[in-house]
Amino acid sequence: MSRNVLITAASGHIGEELVPILLPLNHVRLILPTSNASRLQTKFSSKPHFSDEECVIEEGSVANPGWFQGLLTKYHVDTVFCCLTGEDELFTTMNSIDCMIKSGTVKHLIYLSAGADFHTPEGVAQLYRDSTSAHVMVKVVIEQKIRFGHLPFSWTILRPMLFFVNDIRTKQAMLTDGLYAEPLPDKPLSRVAPGDIALAVKNIVLDTTGKWKGQHIYIGSAKGYTGPEIAKIWSSALGKEIRMLDSGESGLQHVEDHLSRIGRPNWGRDIRLMYETFALRGFEMPESEYPKQVELLGKEPDDYENWVKRDSRRLGIVYVLPRLSLLWHACLRMAGVRVKLLELSKLENPSSYRN
Ligand SMILES: NC(=O)c1ccc[n+]([C@@H]2O[C@H](COP(=O)([O-])OP(=O)(O)OC[C@H]3O[C@@H](n4cnc5c(N)ncnc54)[C@H](OP(=O)(O)O)[C@@H]3O)[C@@H](O)[C@H]2O)c1
Repeated sequence: MSRNVLITAASGHIGEELVPILLPLNHVRLILPTSNASRLQTKFSSKPHFSDEECVIEEGSVANPGWFQGLLTKYHVDTVFCCLTGEDELFTTMNSIDCMIKSGTVKHLIYLSAGADFHTPEGVAQLYRDSTSAHVMVKVVIEQKIRFGHLPFSWTILRPMLFFVNDIRTKQAMLTDGLYAEPLPDKPLSRVAPGDIALAVKNIVLDTTGKWKGQHIYIGSAKGYTGPEIAKIWSSALGKEIRMLDSGESGLQHVEDHLSRIGRPNWGRDIRLMYETFALRGFEMPESEYPKQVELLGKEPDDYENWVKRDSRRLGIVYVLPRLSLLWHACLRMAGVRVKLLELSKLENPSSYRN
């Protein structure tokens, strides 16, 4: 049976891993809404098995329900992977769910939530007590709508932990200042490879048993890594000391100010509030939930420390090159050649992490 699967945020962290593993499935047509079609075309058109017929890129705004609903009906979409972010996450997700209901074509929704207990009364009560971060709290409402909304389609909720790739945001600060520029606290944080989330989505799309319907599945490491442990892992991978940004008031204010400068103050405050919740209670996967993801993935989740070692080789090149250059200039000086040393540190932009 041929399938029509719509993927939101195909350009994003999960989408860029998901599209390439779905492209080879010749009975699956992908529909990718985006605000920038040429960027997405460039990203995927060189991938094996890409064709315009099997991978339809449509330019528009997922925040426009009329346009989004039109896509669902035009392409007879049967499965939606809904991964949304930003200040309008609640509006856009609720409108999208309404579009799925009205389309009459959608049979299954895979909703990307986050790694927290958004459904038991105790879990929800704890969230209300400990968190005021809107981009986290919207997921309580959305999960409840999915669970209790008597939707005319089945659903699976994915609850990922902290993405490995978040570390890339602080790459420049690590390389130039030896600083991991996010205030990760001395509390355990489970980590997850977006590639594993993509694999989970693929396996749900291909499942014919129906066993994942009505399920929520956490995805991430059993081990929780504290901020100081993460700094140590990066120190060992880069061969230089990496300090973690203070997870107290000064680090939190630094992040809020930085994100307010490059984005909007409400987003800066919201991300700060998320870090405050991490400092209060960490971000761990419940032990009892771990085996379910192993069954869904068909393997253990990727190992965070291995990823850091592998990725740091790529980052290491950036780190080594300026130093090789300094060495080269020193040799020239010693040889009596007058050269103006490049102010290499100015080539890097310290604490450049974006959300
Ligand atoms: N980062 C983490 O550690 C983590 C952990 C747990 C859960 N999560 C959740 O994962 C989800 C994805 O977050 P992410 O930061 O990784 O984003 P992302 O998947 O990289 O998505 C960014 C892209 O998605 C599209 N998009 C998403 N929401 C949109 C909206 N409301 N309006 C218009 N376009 C939208 C845009 O694509 P185009 O530009 O192509 O239109 C945007 O460039 C969020 O719900 C987040 O809360 C993240």
